[in-house]
Amino acid sequence: MQSFDFYNPVHIVFGEGRIKNLATLVPAGSRVLVLYGGGSVKKNGTLDEVNSALAGFTTFEFGGIEANPGFETLMRAVELVKAEKIDFLLAVGGGSVLDGTKFVAAASVYEGDDPWDILTSFGAKITAALPLGAVLTLPATGSEMNNGGVITRYATHDKLFFGSNKTFPKFSILDPVKTYTLPPRQVANGVVDAFTHVMEQYLTYPADAPVQDRFAEGLLQTLIELGPKVIATPHDYQVRANLMWAATMALNGLIGAGVPQDWATHMLGHELTALYGLDHAQTLAVVLPSMLQVRRADKRAKLLQYAERVWGIREGDEEARINAAIANTREFFESVGVKTRLPDYSVGREAIDRVLGQLEKHGMTQLGEHRNVTLATSRQVLESCF
Ligand code: NZQ
Ligand code: ZN
Repeated sequence: MQSFDFYNPVHIVFGEGRIKNLATLVPAGSRVLVLYGGGSVKKNGTLDEVNSALAGFTTFEFGGIEANPGFETLMRAVELVKAEKIDFLLAVGGGSVLDGTKFVAAASVYEGDDPWDILTSFGAKITAALPLGAVLTLPATGSEMNNGGVITRYATHDKLFFGSNKTFPKFSILDPVKTYTLPPRQVANGVVDAFTHVMEQYLTYPADAPVQDRFAEGLLQTLIELGPKVIATPHDYQVRANLMWAATMALNGLIGAGVPQDWATHMLGHELTALYGLDHAQTLAVVLPSMLQVRRADKRAKLLQYAERVWGIREGDEEARINAAIANTREFFESVGVKTRLPDYSVGREAIDRVLGQLEKHGMTQLGEHRNVTLATSRQVLESCF
């Protein structure tokens, strides 16, 4: 196992009806800004519930945070924070609202000239942030229990991530009932995103870390089991609850501590979203099977372990078992309703050079657990997405 620091201070408040706990979770006397997305939380009553729980506080609202939250929009929230002397931020929504709120928390007290530098430094320039909490409505990103965020500058097609120990939520409320209103597309996206988060931290090379490996395999098997169930029985509380916890556990730092990590699939995926507008999980469903295929030599030992322990594949020679594991991964994504080829999203071959150009611009030229995913490897991966 590699040496590591594991630090996760997020208070998770899990279960039906827990939104009312906001009354005591938010520090007394706070001036609270409630941030949300395109309006789903207004339609399904979540925002009303939040507002009743916050009855004893001075509150302000900021709506309209996009899926793939936009820098320009968030900077308007920063202005409101400064004008109204807000001292607590509450995100109510999916990963985009949570990520956006983390950015607002850091940008509102940023002392440098240009808050975009928070992104170009991947969060290293964050020295302080306002405290924030979250009410999660979409299990997918793990943002509720990690310190990261991904922000898009639409004008230049830049989608970059940041992370800082200053931007952990103080608490996150996870009420599985709040996910019942999700459209099937977003439910499926969540399953694929969580699955890929586990794969980015697990499917690298053996690191003598059996705890992390078996936690990861348990999460993958749980997602494989729950994916079809949540689509078939969307109002099953236990299925929703287990899916929500699986997605949180997939990216809260636990399974990634002490092991090599990849993340090349995510980096290619972010460029595809920024250029073509695919949902985050759609890009992962497209890129991951190709990434595994192209890098099967480097990942050979772990692919064999994945085949046997996650999919129960024991027949055939090693090449055949690896092929079957990659094919099962693709079929699983398709089975929950997320397509796995670029033409399924009307993206043509001209995308290859455009994505490579953006990867180069963003310095993403040595990706992966061995830092050997060069632009030439990314080209091969993108070519096999057709
Ligand atoms: O905007 P509203 O109206 O709220 O609708 C949203 C949005 O259209 C809707 N939705 C959310 N909860 C709902 C609901 N609709 C009905 N009922 C509910 N309960 O779902 C749509 C998608 O929401 P979004 O927040 O964009 O989805 P997700 O949670 O998948 O977040 C995706 C973003 O997270 C980033 C992605 O890059 C992307 O920008 N990621 C963040 C990570 C992190 N912080 O650690 C890691 C991930 O790898 C990922 O990159
Ligand atoms: Zn992701």
